[in-house]
Amino acid sequence: MLNGKKILLGITGSIAAYKSILLVRLLVKAGAEVKVIMTPAAKDFAPALTLSTLSKNPVLTDLFDEQSWSNHVMLGRWADLMIIAPLSCNSLAKLAHGQCDNLLLAVYLSATCPVALAPAMDEDMWHHPATKQNLIQLDKFGNHIIPVNSGELASGLIGEGRMAEPEAIADWISAFFNQQTSLKGKKALVTAGPTYEHIDPVRFMGNHSSGKMGIALAEELNRRGATVTLVLGPVSLQSSLPGINIVHVLSADEMYQACDACFEKMDLAIMAAAVADYTPVNKAEEKIKKKEDQLTINLQKTKDILRSLGERKKSGQVLVGFALETNNEAANAREKLLSKKADMIVLNSLKDAGAGFGTDTNKITIFDKSGKQFDFDMKSKKAVAADIINSISSIYYA
Ligand code: CTP
Repeated sequence: MLNGKKILLGITGSIAAYKSILLVRLLVKAGAEVKVIMTPAAKDFAPALTLSTLSKNPVLTDLFDEQSWSNHVMLGRWADLMIIAPLSCNSLAKLAHGQCDNLLLAVYLSATCPVALAPAMDEDMWHHPATKQNLIQLDKFGNHIIPVNSGELASGLIGEGRMAEPEAIADWISAFFNQQTSLKGKKALVTAGPTYEHIDPVRFMGNHSSGKMGIALAEELNRRGATVTLVLGPVSLQSSLPGINIVHVLSADEMYQACDACFEKMDLAIMAAAVADYTPVNKAEEKIKKKEDQLTINLQKTKDILRSLGERKKSGQVLVGFALETNNEAANAREKLLSKKADMIVLNSLKDAGAGFGTDTNKITIFDKSGKQFDFDMKSKKAVAADIINSISSIYYA
């Protein structure tokens, strides 16, 4: 049920706009309050009178008739969810580039609520690299993309690009709101990013981790209602994540101390950081001068955070580790699962192009304690984060 949920439905110029009439009816029947905004082109495809009658609210189309800027700002702040269905190829491109030449685009740019997009277009437009690039951009902005269907298209061709059916979109919206509270009351710890081990005051040993995977996990947990602490190594990404308690650390030892201090009260811990395995035995107080042809730096092992949390884990606490491998991937991941006493290991292989450090995508396999293995396709790190939290939820919080 969607009782009391405020939903802004944007409709753009696509033949699939006729299906939005049914979508409005389904949402209103489920208890939602719906306001409809149409682009000027959408008016040719669906009657505003029908939409306003079904939504019991006036349909908004014009940026200037609607008393200028305060209206679009307030609409964007009013909603619990904004969904644009159908989203035409043209409007999709405009959203990706921040264009603002109609009311719907202005509301999108002002929206502070989550935004979902249900594209609809002919197959060739759907597969064009420009559209693909625009979708990647919209995904990066944090929009939720509702996958298109395959079937008969307006052109008469059969292929990909059909908007998801109104019933499927309504189900997606219900699941979205249910998820928002699914981890309410749970406390979660996430580590992310690299660590830097200082050699002298100007040099350090580090690695290429961008922190993107761990940050996506922290955001997904937060979105589902968990109270999240993110222990974050030095990364160049934005470090203010609303609603997430961020503890900034530099070295493996600082990351260990931060995790050690809070693990006891956590229900769930996900170790996504690329922690240095070794650190210099001595950190030089002054800059090391260039003298000999060869320089030896003695290193010692850092504390393994995942292993130490695995050893003190109490019943009811769920501990998830990552394994970044280049060879014998599955065997190494299983070995880490057992030896570090984790409940689950997420494997990513550097052999998969598009997986691992710095990329916006990842390809994972999850191993759980019962010996099961779950394989996933290459996806955006945001979608991978959702897959990981779905797997944890279905095994431990169902
Ligand atoms: N990890 C950790 N503390 C460390 C090293 C690793 O908590 N000092 C965690 C990572 O965050 C990850 C998991 O252990 O969740 C596996 O990390 P990975 O680098 O793949 O493996 P290592 O244990 O370091 O082993 P190896 O380098 O030999 O593969």
